[in-house]
Amino acid sequence: MSNDSSNTLRSLIYNLDTTTTPPKATLSVLDQLLLPHNTAYIPIHTVSDAWTVIRTMQIRGAPLIAIVAVLGLAVDLTSNADTVSSLQNKSVDEIKQVIGEKMEYLKTSRPTAVNLFNAMEELSNIIIMDTSLDTREALLEKLTSHASYMLERDVSDNKLIGSHGADDILANRESDVKVQVITICNTGSLATAGWGTALGVARELCERGRMDGIACLETRPYNQGSRLTAYEILVEKMPNPTLLCDSMTSSFLANKVNPSNTVCIVGADRVCANGDTANKIGTFQLAIIAKEFGVDFYVASPFTTLDVKLASGKQIEIEERPAGELLESSCAPKDMRCWNPGFDVTPARYITGIITEKGVLRRSEDGTFDVKEFVEKHS
Ligand code: MRU
Repeated sequence: MSNDSSNTLRSLIYNLDTTTTPPKATLSVLDQLLLPHNTAYIPIHTVSDAWTVIRTMQIRGAPLIAIVAVLGLAVDLTSNADTVSSLQNKSVDEIKQVIGEKMEYLKTSRPTAVNLFNAMEELSNIIIMDTSLDTREALLEKLTSHASYMLERDVSDNKLIGSHGADDILANRESDVKVQVITICNTGSLATAGWGTALGVARELCERGRMDGIACLETRPYNQGSRLTAYEILVEKMPNPTLLCDSMTSSFLANKVNPSNTVCIVGADRVCANGDTANKIGTFQLAIIAKEFGVDFYVASPFTTLDVKLASGKQIEIEERPAGELLESSCAPKDMRCWNPGFDVTPARYITGIITEKGVLRRSEDGTFDVKEFVEKHS
């Protein structure tokens, strides 16, 4: 088995050799810190390698973080000589304990995106809780086959998100109208196993010939918009690509585009039971600007990003990044004090709809989102 993203930028290369028992997995990930000027893949041999590329943001984006953790675990347990030999004389219960410890470690890499935690829980239910897996081979076979399934599912879910999102956005528009998209951060092939969430919706609009243009926000201070999304939309040859500093959005809407044909589409790292949504820092102010101009503001994310365990955005842990990242990307004196949160929470009242692979959740008549009901209905 090999992941084939030949029609997209490849955020990772994964191979599973099923001719051996148990199968052997190999993985390398695209170093996103080198983009857009250099392309280099980093080999992942251990869970520690996977943790490091997540922590240092050599890979990033909520779905990709989860997938790299899952595949990193599969590689470590099946192809890393040290782990393989240490498991040789262990009982199935002891191996399950080792897997559990490695999962706990992976969960310490980054805190805000819930996808990582949900992926570890899903894998734990499949591997650790299944008492019928009573040999090392059966356990590792199940781990690798489920990891492959999660990888393929990420891409197919993204494509569904794209088509549901495009359907909803175009539903009340004349068939000759083309849409101007504004997006923030990077939510494309580089943030996922392939295709993308918010950028996947944009790709679908493009494929349907219904996109007039796309503006990506630079996304200060880490610049995922200018380094990654600008690169992706050029590779994808999307129409009228435009890069904006985050602070230019209101002027862009006031002067350059028709707000009634414009739509904001953003990704998500966690969507709470009331619809409050954590996403890249700057998303909240984009939502406020969208509301001022009457522009629809959509959140696009996999179903696994919905976290109904949290009642509201106040409960989301927001990652604080090192001050140095902000200092390095600005011209500030090096001893300047900084606050550098990686994410913010957009209150649900600013959101038009939440696009998932199961469909689009819109507000109830009272103006609120019932994410819990949506999750129960589609689980
Ligand atoms: O810090 P990052 O680059 O991991 O943040 C990424 C985002 O905030 C994305 O918008 C989000 O993860 C959705 S990616 C499909």
